[in-house]
Amino acid sequence: MRGPLKVFSGTANPELSKKIADYLNTPLGQADISRFPDGEIFVKIKENVRGCDVYIIQPTCNSANDNLMELLIMIDALKRASAERITAVVPYYGYARQDRKDQPRVSITAKLVANILTAAGASRILGMDFHVDQIQGFFDIPVDHLYAAPVFVEYIKSLNMDNLTIVSPDTGGIKSARGVAKQLNASLAAIDKRRVTGKDIEVLNIMGEVKGRNLIIVDDIVSTAGSLAEAIKALKENGALSISAAITHPVLAGPAIARIESSPIDELIVTDTIPLSEEAKKSSSKIKVLSVSNLLGEAIKRIKNNESVSSLFE
Ligand code: R5P
Repeated sequence: MRGPLKVFSGTANPELSKKIADYLNTPLGQADISRFPDGEIFVKIKENVRGCDVYIIQPTCNSANDNLMELLIMIDALKRASAERITAVVPYYGYARQDRKDQPRVSITAKLVANILTAAGASRILGMDFHVDQIQGFFDIPVDHLYAAPVFVEYIKSLNMDNLTIVSPDTGGIKSARGVAKQLNASLAAIDKRRVTGKDIEVLNIMGEVKGRNLIIVDDIVSTAGSLAEAIKALKENGALSISAAITHPVLAGPAIARIESSPIDELIVTDTIPLSEEAKKSSSKIKVLSVSNLLGEAIKRIKNNESVSSLFE
């Protein structure tokens, strides 16, 4: 038997941490997280964690560098305080999109972050909708990788939409879009897109029937919303009846909110892996947030009890 369960929160998404702790019926661990005048981060764990099975909840979202560094410092503090096992719960794993050397002399940041989390002392990782599944293999410690799909499927079912088609916004996402379509008895379509620059996307082709259909685009990240806006434009031009999107991580950077506001999207359904910015909360009535707290809480419970986590998705 492992030591007692303790759940700590970083400062990236305290609301989600609180919900997870409530699900687990445990108070959040006491910690001081503050800044030195020069911006360096100070962490002091304010309770005994010797021999404990500790979970730190911290998505590495904007500001990615600060949130990542805070997570590393928390892991280090807990390790030095003799926690028995430390699980980094990273609902949104930042730096994931640089996952290969796609041009000369660039970093593979998804692997670098895996290395530094491990070096800091993480015993295991609990994540959700990594940008690509292969990131699991960038770690040499156990990784439990969750999917937000069941939360989306439950909500979409409640909408009772007919003529429903699930759309993958790129060819790489077809497998997960097909899984969602199957659970909803919906048909499948996909967009063949090309990234022109970091910010600009060109739609080359639409595969599958979209004319006269109610469409839901399924993706992992909405960052600048460039991919989403281009996809919506192409789908509308091809006769879509309505268009919504179910996207796990609402990064919503730069022009994202303006693009969503000016696009004919009916609803952008996201999760609370990342907290919505004040701008997003204020200006977009089109955004619906679903919570993944129960899913993460249940996974933590199962990891603690040495039970299957994959059976959550059967
Ligand atoms: C691409 O492979 C991802 O799944 C997302 O579609 C992409 O990262 C979204 O970025 P943006 O919103 O900036 O177009």
